[in-house]
Amino acid sequence: MCGIMGYTGKGNAAPVIIDGLSKLEYRGYDSAGIAVCQEGKLEITKKKGRLADMVTALGELPESPLGIGHTRWATHGIPSDNNAHPHYDCQGRIALVHNGIIENYANLRKDLMLEGHDFVSETDTEVVAHLVEKYYNGSLEQAVRKALSCLQGSFALAVISRDEPHTIIAAKKDSPLIVGLGEGENYIASDIPAILGRTARVYILEDDEFVVVTPEQVTVTDLSGNLVEKSVFDVDWDPIAAEKGGYEHFMLKEIHEQPEAVRKTMSGRIHDGRVDFSDLQFDEVFQNTRKIFIVACGTAYHAGMVGRLAIEKLARIPVETDIASEFRYRDVLWQPDDLMIVISQSGETADTLAALREAKRNGIKVLAVTNVVGSAVAREADRVIYTHAGPEIAVASTKAYSTQLVVMYLLALYLAEIRHSYDPVKLSGMVRDMLYMDTMVEQVLKEQDKIKALAEKYRSVQSTFFLGRGMDYAVAMEGALKLKEISYVHAEAYAAGELKHGPLALIDEGVPVLALISQDKLVDKAMSNIKEVKARGAVVVAICKENLQEDCQECDEQILLPRVNPLLAPVVSVVPLQIFAYYMAVFRGADVDKPRNLAKSVTVE
Ligand code: AGP
Repeated sequence: MCGIMGYTGKGNAAPVIIDGLSKLEYRGYDSAGIAVCQEGKLEITKKKGRLADMVTALGELPESPLGIGHTRWATHGIPSDNNAHPHYDCQGRIALVHNGIIENYANLRKDLMLEGHDFVSETDTEVVAHLVEKYYNGSLEQAVRKALSCLQGSFALAVISRDEPHTIIAAKKDSPLIVGLGEGENYIASDIPAILGRTARVYILEDDEFVVVTPEQVTVTDLSGNLVEKSVFDVDWDPIAAEKGGYEHFMLKEIHEQPEAVRKTMSGRIHDGRVDFSDLQFDEVFQNTRKIFIVACGTAYHAGMVGRLAIEKLARIPVETDIASEFRYRDVLWQPDDLMIVISQSGETADTLAALREAKRNGIKVLAVTNVVGSAVAREADRVIYTHAGPEIAVASTKAYSTQLVVMYLLALYLAEIRHSYDPVKLSGMVRDMLYMDTMVEQVLKEQDKIKALAEKYRSVQSTFFLGRGMDYAVAMEGALKLKEISYVHAEAYAAGELKHGPLALIDEGVPVLALISQDKLVDKAMSNIKEVKARGAVVVAICKENLQEDCQECDEQILLPRVNPLLAPVVSVVPLQIFAYYMAVFRGADVDKPRNLAKSVTVE
């Protein structure tokens, strides 16, 4: 998730682009760059760090009627000046900015290097610049069309050439892109905030649309060149709301970004019905692993709890999960073939980093799962699997959690495949089920209003309980954390079978209990625990799969989930809990995106 911006017109491009990028930094902020066309030459400035660092490096703003810019959220290649966008070809004729992931970039890069192209970055994007150069024969439009036909993956691209000083070529597939329509000037951008205040008339591009933008004209076609009629979208957003995509808070926006985050995190990892992590070149370690320690903090730890159940079930490897702040001081009985998996959205959490270093000190291999390319955890681990949730602005983690779950499932499936530890037919069935997770999350998001009404009903409670068995218990833990950290309601999660061993005493008349019921084999057990709390006057809200609705008749309220595979249920069942916590915080007047006493990542000791 990066931000791209472009301008062609009678004005000066650089200040317009920089202003636009400043409104897109919520999409990525680890490096930035700009390219303008001046006297037949492309002037490119790019810098690691925030947009302000690039502007400082730029110094005096260049005068030019044409330019493109970028603010980055690294996916391939750590944040650095070289990996920052725009990328360019060997002859300095072409410059381009990109948001998305080119899945087949490694093969394309190999072929282009054999043809004599020199690469200066580690990014997937640079491949496109060289492809455009390869096909350039006097028409930038034709060269870009040809280059796009070689790409697999997602892209929002903008390309300029020194030979066409008023033209921007842009195209979209699975990444957002709009065109801002001005008088004698036009804009392209990843999102509306970038052009707000400059024009209120935009084209919202659809997948596989291609656009040629000049100061006087905007021509939209499909990727093969057939004209596309576009209707103008009139924007009446206020700038602040715009950055949140029209949502009131970043947390709600990020909850709704989960289907895309799940898709992006899976992209390039499933080929012909099989999971592929061969690029990690870690198979030998995976083959010989005797035991796994999953270590993390907060929400990431809760994702690890799901990972443990999936890996033990499919890969048949014993897994221990532990919170990093405890683990780092344990006297662990390490064995040579142990593997540590650390999970961290930020990649900078001190306790998780310390646990990683402790493992390394004992000669243990470490696999990191993180959302930030180039973060400390990514740098220090032996191997890294990136989640592609994009920047997570709200302190309460939501989309990062879902993408961590996706990586846990992909890893469990891959380990099972290469260790032949599970029925291959069932494995490919699960891989197939994973491909529907994004649409199932979209389906549950439609329950938002019903969940909002529940939150309004229970807005003044002082304590809430979350119950679940197996995978549902792990999700109950996450649900309780979300409610605690943003709405300041005392919330407890319990393994449902544990209640009778004491906590049941806390259940009072009218106390809300959110019960997760997505594990078909455990529904009877779960319902017997629900009967226990009902008998003490609790109000039970069942978050249950539609095929288990009958079994949950005794519950007071039901939030239905699609018929998701029980192993994969957490990616779907957590969503109602995120929305419930969000609205409880809203109705209780809390600062949703920046809860008190909490920081996005805890890096200090
Ligand atoms: C979750 O909503 C919190 N922000 C917090 O528990 C967080 O998950 C924890 O601090 C771990 O952060 P990390 O994933 O960046 O390491």
